Amino acid sequence: MKNQKIIIALDGYASTGKSTQAKNIAKKLDYIYIDSGAMYRAVTLYAIRKNILDESKIKILIKSLDDINIEFIRNNDVQKIYLNGKEVENDIRKSIVNSNVSRLAMIPEVRNFLLSKQRGYGKNKGLVMDGRDIGTVVFPNAECKFFFIATQEVRAKRRHLEQYKKGNLETYDQVLKNIVERDRIDSNRSLNPLKKSSDAIEIDVSDLTENEVFNKIWEHISKKIN
Ligand code: DC
Repeated sequence: MKNQKIIIALDGYASTGKSTQAKNIAKKLDYIYIDSGAMYRAVTLYAIRKNILDESKIKILIKSLDDINIEFIRNNDVQKIYLNGKEVENDIRKSIVNSNVSRLAMIPEVRNFLLSKQRGYGKNKGLVMDGRDIGTVVFPNAECKFFFIATQEVRAKRRHLEQYKKGNLETYDQVLKNIVERDRIDSNRSLNPLKKSSDAIEIDVSDLTENEVFNKIWEHISKKIN
């Protein structure tokens, strides 16, 4: 093995299992793993906590961006996200964040703020990052790009089960509604919308198990690093 370090971009729709796969690939390669969606969620959580989530408070949020410190810290092999020194891994997955994150992710200043942080993680390569615009905007020269798709129903089912296990009592219909709405906003925003990079490998995960998806993407990655 040449052991050549590369950047792997894993984009796609909400709840297609991007993060799970990205995490597993990073572990196998001993690479850094960054969940860029978690960064948008952390900014949203900050806005909720400061009560500046409202449309009318956007200017205040933009001015406060420099007060937001986001870090990924690894402890006993588990990586968690920290917002201004406090772990927020569970809080950023709550439904109030789900319902507002796409709207905040439309704000150009928020995107630029996170873009420079995201690029910083790739300085030395050896990075797996998942999100919506990683292969198109954050790392257009990434050596390996994937784009995950699945039907909205399959994704809602997955998300619902995941949330249920965590004790979240949202119904399947509520979860589906949120997915449909986030797809609409993520795909239609004018700045860096969710779209497949022309050189990304599309993977429809609807009928595949976690292992099958892993094997598929590994097949491509191993060619790039060997
Ligand atoms: O991957 P996720 O569901 O945790 O992402 C949450 C939101 O963040 C998603 O609805 C859109 C936004 N996002 C984005 O705009 N660009 C990214 N690279 C990652 C996420």
